[in-house]
Amino acid sequence: MASGSQYDAIGAAYDAVKALPAARYAEIPTVRALLGDLTRLTVLDLGCGTGHYARICRELGATTVVGVDNSAEMI
Ligand SMILES: C[S@@+](CC[C@H](N)C(=O)[O-])C[C@H]1O[C@@H](n2cnc3c(N)ncnc32)[C@H](O)[C@@H]1O
Repeated sequence: MASGSQYDAIGAAYDAVKALPAARYAEIPTVRALLGDLTRLTVLDLGCGTGHYARICRELGATTVVGVDNSAEMI
């Protein structure tokens, strides 16, 4: 299936967004706190992009994380 997502054009550069201060000091700590303890859970990360939060879900204890994204470049 063809991708065609608007994110295909920025996929390679997207991870740099997570290094920006707004992400490092606000977004990421907030999402981590909201997710909490995921021990033994299975997580579906819909719109996972490059997998930043999928990896965090594993760090927080999830046994299995499935990431889905309609941008081939982001994946
Ligand atoms: C703002 S990015 C966020 C990516 C990731 N969740 C993160 O926080 O780093 C939004 C993501 O949602 C994906 N997306 C948008 N619409 C989608 C759809 N209908 N099905 C699957 N993925 C979708 C995009 O390709 C993109 O990777």
